[in-house]
Amino acid sequence: MSGAVLQWGSLGLRSNLFLSPLAGYTNLPFRLVVRELGGVDLCTTDLVNARSLIERNSKALKLIESSPADRPLAVQLFGAVPEEMRDAALHLESLGVASVDINMGCPVRKVCRVGGGSAMMTELGRTQHLVRTMVEAVKIPVTAKMRLGWDDDNITAPDLARALEDVGIAAIFVHGRTREQGFGGTVNLGGIRRVVEAARRVPVIGNGDVTTPEAAKHMLEITGCAGVSIGRGAFYDPWIFRRTRRLLDAGECVPEPPFEERIQVMRRHLDLMVEVFGEGHGCLMFRKIAPWYAKRFGPVNEFNKRVVHLASRSQFEEILAHYLRWRKQFCDDQGQLLPKYRPQQLHPSFLATAAEVDRDPAAATRQSVPVPRGPVEVW
Ligand SMILES: Cc1cc2nc3c(=O)[nH]c(=O)nc-3n(C[C@H](O)[C@H](O)[C@H](O)COP(=O)(O)O)c2cc1C
Repeated sequence: MSGAVLQWGSLGLRSNLFLSPLAGYTNLPFRLVVRELGGVDLCTTDLVNARSLIERNSKALKLIESSPADRPLAVQLFGAVPEEMRDAALHLESLGVASVDINMGCPVRKVCRVGGGSAMMTELGRTQHLVRTMVEAVKIPVTAKMRLGWDDDNITAPDLARALEDVGIAAIFVHGRTREQGFGGTVNLGGIRRVVEAARRVPVIGNGDVTTPEAAKHMLEITGCAGVSIGRGAFYDPWIFRRTRRLLDAGECVPEPPFEERIQVMRRHLDLMVEVFGEGHGCLMFRKIAPWYAKRFGPVNEFNKRVVHLASRSQFEEILAHYLRWRKQFCDDQGQLLPKYRPQQLHPSFLATAAEVDRDPAAATRQSVPVPRGPVEVW
């Protein structure tokens, strides 16, 4: 990567690929893992409650923990009180955060009830006022992350994009589903395109179900979006940014990494978890992370069944050693998985062909990307 490919106010970005916020997952260790593998530039934290941040609540401070290698960093805020959002943004600016993102897509009742998250998409005037208050207070870019709308009858993202552009939003991230859709059904590329067309000046970043470099390229081409933001796809494949860059920049289809490299990166991830959260808590949190790496390992029962009890770094090595011995039965003489045990190619919902969906309407849903369990069950 060299030179800026996107300019958001004073912030020059070297890649138009972004890490989407995934509450409970996109913490400092994971961001460092994807940054070390390359291809991504701006990464976003989990959502942070603006009021908790102003009150310097220890959980909120942990969510924004960063390091010099974790740059440029966007912090995502949620809240509905303009003055609180402004003060939180000012604090983040003083800490050297590169940009502030506003959550307008969260469907969780607790967040919507107080006028935050997806509820912001239903009240354009109020949301415009909140964004203006923030933009006028800070020099760093303020961006918004939204869904297409509340439901199919209320596709407000194009109007909202325009309204926010008028008050100085720097960029818009849009997940191509409505709040009502949750994570079901196909990502609506036509819907993302309408947001791109509505926003006359600011870049729109497409999001949803991108699990392969080809899917990212397809989204860029079909919607005309300025970049692509990837969440769960990065959990399957933290290499996705690097592989997508190669496809976009050089037209090369780089294969998924070999098993040994996956193991090496998984270990690195655990080391960082232990460094940032301490051994006990880091291992506890890693219980739900390791199975995501394992999704691309082939047969994996013996690994998953043990890793959910992970309590220490040395126990992890024992689990791994046991698993590697067990896995040999599925491999050939060179240690490669026999073809019938290799994980299937990933196919995002919006790449299910029209013919496939015609023949079998469930095809689009079957190809859906699993939603990890976490603090928010219905993102
Ligand atoms: C477990 C989980 C947590 C999420 N947390 C957030 C969040 O904190 N803020 C946000 O704007 N979106 C959040 N999302 C939505 C994602 O950022 C993204 O828009 C969505 O998952 C679709 O993109 P993907 O298919 O690339 O994951 C979350 C999604 C999941 C599955």
